[in-house]
Amino acid sequence: MVCFRLAPVPGSGLLLLCLVLDLGPATYSGSSCGDDQNGPKIAVQFGSGFSWIVNFTEETSFYSIDNISFSYNTNDNTTFPDAKEKGVFTVSDHVAFRVPLNDIFRCSSLLTLGKNDVVQHYWDVHVQAFVQNGTVSTKEFLCDKDKTLTTVLPIVPTTVPSPTTTPSPKEKPEVGSYSVVNSNGTCLLATMGLQLNITHDKVASVININPNTTNFTGSCHPQTALLRLSSSSIKYLDFVFAVKNENRFYLKEVNVSMYLVNGSVFSIANNNLSYWDAPLGSSYMCNKEQTVSVSGAFQINTFDLRVQPFNVMEGKYSTAQECSLDDDTILIPIIVGAGLSGLIIVIVIAYLIGRRKSYAGYQTL
Ligand SMILES: *[C@@H]1O[C@H](CO)[C@@H](O)[C@H](O)[C@H]1NC(C)=O
Ligand SMILES: *[C@@H]1O[C@H](CO)[C@@H](O)[C@H](O)[C@H]1NC(C)=O
Ligand SMILES: *[C@@H]1O[C@H](CO)[C@@H](O)[C@H](O)[C@H]1NC(C)=O
Ligand SMILES: *[C@@H]1O[C@H](CO)[C@@H](O)[C@H](O)[C@H]1NC(C)=O
Ligand SMILES: *[C@@H]1O[C@H](CO)[C@@H](O)[C@H](O)[C@H]1NC(C)=O
Ligand SMILES: *[C@@H]1O[C@H](CO)[C@@H](O)[C@H](O)[C@H]1NC(C)=O
Repeated sequence: MVCFRLAPVPGSGLLLLCLVLDLGPATYSGSSCGDDQNGPKIAVQFGSGFSWIVNFTEETSFYSIDNISFSYNTNDNTTFPDAKEKGVFTVSDHVAFRVPLNDIFRCSSLLTLGKNDVVQHYWDVHVQAFVQNGTVSTKEFLCDKDKTLTTVLPIVPTTVPSPTTTPSPKEKPEVGSYSVVNSNGTCLLATMGLQLNITHDKVASVININPNTTNFTGSCHPQTALLRLSSSSIKYLDFVFAVKNENRFYLKEVNVSMYLVNGSVFSIANNNLSYWDAPLGSSYMCNKEQTVSVSGAFQINTFDLRVQPFNVMEGKYSTAQECSLDDDTILIPIIVGAGLSGLIIVIVIAYLIGRRKSYAGYQTL
């Protein structure tokens, strides 16, 4: 049974419509397990011109119920006798439930999707995409609402990873090229590898951004510029640049909202940052790993970074101002001048970082 609340014409009053789907007249054409280009999807057609499509995406250790789209046809005079506007209307909801691979997603509780024109209610949902070896999993991944329904204690991992096994350190993220175009052409350029580090309960989760599956957009204004990245797991990751003292630019704000594997949303913003400072008319470059600390719980590690948020000419970067980290001539005197005790401290710090990094490998989002 599927229940929809519809407004036959966007912006008009609401009409409550419950479609109790007798699966007899429904067809499933277009449903597929996916191929190289397209992910798997379930497509259901019913009534006269109604269709419902859900698609799934896969990432390393989990899959996402990505998007649900629903189309209704107001030409259907039985369901929409008084529709002023006739035609097929489609609503699409990005849901992004993240489920560990090889788990079945279960949600007995009522889930409500959408707003305004179409509201969809779901319950008793059982779904597994990317079924392994043709065997539906017996391991259930509950939605948040079901978890709070049954007052069981949170599942504590019973096997603590042995400290002697060192998981491979997180590999470097792939470098992506992002740009923003306005009526005057390209107005913002950014090239960078991005690694997000979310710390929760003293456990860091490190996520590399895959540029191949990341969308980007933004805007350019005289005093501010925005680069917004998004993907199936990132609702938005905003980089806001500003001009200061009329002759320099810098990264002023990062605002992020991400879907976590347990279905909850992680959001954080800091508009008081001061990174990537360079003169207007130039670009900022830093090839070494650099960290943008947005909050105690959220850091962004950047690799092979180059950005120019203002004064981009002919779609190309202007001369770069390099970060001091890249300038080896500065580093050498510091290390030489640090002496023996300094060197020991450097080693100890490096060891601690290495240890912490290795813990990150256990937690997947
Ligand atoms: C899922 O469907 C939405 C809307 O139809 C589409 O924009 C998106 O690209 C699809 N995703 C995949 C992985 O096919
Ligand atoms: C699928 O089958 C392969 C080969 O038999 C096996 O190695 C793998 O563990 C199986 N995967 C699952 C999830 O059962
Ligand atoms: C989901 O995970 C996040 C971070 O690990 C945590 O803050 C949040 O409380 C969790 N939500 C639920 C419902 O378990
Ligand atoms: C992630 O953040 C935590 C807490 O700030 C830090 O200890 C850890 O070294 C960071 N990991 C990476 C790979 O940046
Ligand atoms: C991104 O796409 C390129 C070219 O198609 C490919 O070589 C690379 O492996 C892909 N990267 C990831 C992380 O999927
Ligand atoms: C972050 O972005 C959201 C959505 O665009 C917005 O509502 C919020 O005000 C922003 N936060 C900050 C501090 O800019």
